[in-house]
Amino acid sequence: MRKRILAGITPSGDGTLHIGNYLGAVRQFIELTKSHDCFLMVADLHALTTIQERETLSNNTETLILNELALLGDLSHIVFFRQSDVPMHTELTWILNNITPMGLLKRAHAYKDKLQKDMTLDDINLGLFNYPILMASDILLYKPDLVPVGRDQKQHVEITRDIAERFNKTFKAKVFPLPDPFIPEEVAVIMGTDGKRKMSKSLGNIISIFESEETIRKQVMSTYTDPTRIHKTDPGHIEGNMVFRYLDFFGEKGKVDQLKKLYIEGNISDIEVKNYLYDSLMKIFAPARKRYQDLRSNPQKVREILETGAVKARGVAGATMMEVRDAVGLTNSYSFFSY
Ligand code: ADP
Ligand code: TRP
Repeated sequence: MRKRILAGITPSGDGTLHIGNYLGAVRQFIELTKSHDCFLMVADLHALTTIQERETLSNNTETLILNELALLGDLSHIVFFRQSDVPMHTELTWILNNITPMGLLKRAHAYKDKLQKDMTLDDINLGLFNYPILMASDILLYKPDLVPVGRDQKQHVEITRDIAERFNKTFKAKVFPLPDPFIPEEVAVIMGTDGKRKMSKSLGNIISIFESEETIRKQVMSTYTDPTRIHKTDPGHIEGNMVFRYLDFFGEKGKVDQLKKLYIEGNISDIEVKNYLYDSLMKIFAPARKRYQDLRSNPQKVREILETGAVKARGVAGATMMEVRDAVGLTNSYSFFSY
């Protein structure tokens, strides 16, 4: 039987994804979908802990949904849904609140880090403090085998296991299997087009995936190469040269090797290499860019995808909630959803 994975992404940024996000996260997820059944959730309720402005939350969420759907393409082994379409997440959060000691949450990094950044308890809302419990609910409702996360989120999966064990023990019921974190093979952080810092939207050193051709061309053309090289005939350096770093991922190996040789010899200009990077990006992302445009001009289709995902997710989450409610003694009927 295929193993089940559950992943979540929070629309805390503006929702647009760049090639750093693609190489660091989306690509691995697509790989996992080939051998696993996947639940992928856009965690909009999580974003509420930091975004408290109507337009921003709704725009970020919609943009992230479009970006993700366009990159994923084939959804045949993925239940893609929006967290706030499945009310069981908040329902389970309340129940789990009652068996989670405050001490466990006080040790969570996200909260501890905030306290260290000269914030006081009055600056930290309860949602942020409680965030690991909402994440535990996100996970436990779907009884996944694995939860793919970055290193910074590993602790949250450990807290989830702790909460699941407490629940099973307190209510003497084996409702929740314990999920394992799955930390995908470390993809070195992708550096930005400035060659100095991690690629990040807020630093303005990104290469976008869904922007206009003109914008992407500009981003590629401004990418850091070899500052010691002034003329095309100067021998060039490959190490630290971001254009070649990106080409290692996006170019064809034979062609990239040939370009590297010419570059080191001083037989090719920066512009020619950059043009090849631009063409390679356009080629690799062509199907995703097309899907993005299709989805953008067809909101009804996006609504249908989300509705299909929500129905499936509510089915699984609702079945788990029936077990949970029964285990804790909420024995009234649970029939306000049709599955
Ligand atoms: P950040 O990690 O900067 O807060 P996001 O939360 O938007 O950015 O990241 C979404 C996913 O993309 C995460 O899994 C993150 O590790 C990955 N990611 C973001 N930027 C990079 C980068 N420059 N290189 C590799 N992976 C990245
Ligand atoms: N908290 C995660 C992050 O910031 C996103 C997330 C929300 C998540 N719910 C999840 C990840 C459930 C895995 C499983 O990256």
